[in-house]
Amino acid sequence: MTPLTLRTAQPGEAAEVARLILSANPHLEERIQRFQAAGRRWHDATPVVGEAEGRLCSCAVIFRRQIWAGSNQAAFGGIGAVCTQPAARGRGYATRVVQYCEDLLAAEGIRLAVLFANIVEFYERLGWVRQPEDEVEFPWTPSERYSSESPYDLRPFGPNVSQPALAKIYEQTPECAGGALVRSEGVWREYRTWQREELDLFWIACVQEMPVAYVRGRRIAHGLFLQEATSLPEHARALLPLLNQQVKVASPAARVTFRSILSRRHPLACILDGMGAVWRVTSPQTSMLMSKELPSAGGHRRVATALTGEHFRTGLPWQPRSWWAADRF
Ligand SMILES: CC(C)(COP(=O)(O)OP(=O)(O)OC[C@H]1O[C@@H](n2cnc3c(N)ncnc32)[C@H](O)[C@@H]1OP(=O)(O)O)[C@@H](O)C(=O)NCCC(=O)NCCS
Repeated sequence: MTPLTLRTAQPGEAAEVARLILSANPHLEERIQRFQAAGRRWHDATPVVGEAEGRLCSCAVIFRRQIWAGSNQAAFGGIGAVCTQPAARGRGYATRVVQYCEDLLAAEGIRLAVLFANIVEFYERLGWVRQPEDEVEFPWTPSERYSSESPYDLRPFGPNVSQPALAKIYEQTPECAGGALVRSEGVWREYRTWQREELDLFWIACVQEMPVAYVRGRRIAHGLFLQEATSLPEHARALLPLLNQQVKVASPAARVTFRSILSRRHPLACILDGMGAVWRVTSPQTSMLMSKELPSAGGHRRVATALTGEHFRTGLPWQPRSWWAADRF
């Protein structure tokens, strides 16, 4: 069998890596093109490649991230964009790329890696564990009531809304007191270039010109996917007119179904319970969060606390998906 060389990609190979990711994920074409046009930079991320016969045939990207854990920040790693060129599949390349990524993260002192996957058995063979998340579905019929009775001024996301204002809201959420992704300036910048939401469904609620809540979402086959619903603690009610606004934009005349991967501790959860929400947990069909504890291998990461499997066992009140780079895939 042709030997596979594993290594981190050179900066000059970014376009080739992007082409490889695109060949395995043609449905992401538009997003990948936009990302390339914006300079192809994920924050604190390193592409890893598998090379055979002088060609890149398999790759993945490792991400270093931090979460709020109490008042500390804890470090963890992520693996995304795992793919092998169609003609080179079934030779163990992706398996070896993933293992190489794990070794790189462990060598940096990271003790826990996460990823999102549909092909869970593939990762289970490599020791990854499923971490089911709360998932909710709820119906919504657009109503003028939400705007006429609302004290909130609703605005589309645009150049008039500053990123620091959104960061300020995000950082005051309960999740940030105990388990949400630390969104550094670099992570916000990445969000702007690896954009997953549809911009016409990104709305902000303001009170006296001050942003107090926002929602991000995108259209899916049978309705809307609510990616993020974030508010200052005292303005959770602003999320209702914001959801209504998303429906008015996407489907003004008809009832739609929202789907969201939302923590049951999210302030919206108890409001939705009174509105016919159906809760379940994520499954491989809808993509699963998976984690793997990495062996302690020394390392030199600058963050004192490493996120370990124990954090999952004791339960972090994080709002899944909205908190890390895998939200991008
Ligand atoms: C999934 C993928 C990365 C596997 O690459 P690969 O180099 O062929 O993987 P390996 O040779 O190391 O492992 C092959 C194993 O992957 C598993 N596998 C591959 N595709 C799978 C799929 N769609 N569903 C479930 N398992 C799958 C099989 O169990 C296979 O095992 P087998 O050889 O015993 O049949 C490749 O098929 C791909 O790029 N797919 C499109 C992108 C994608 O789905 N990425 C995963 C994101 S989580």
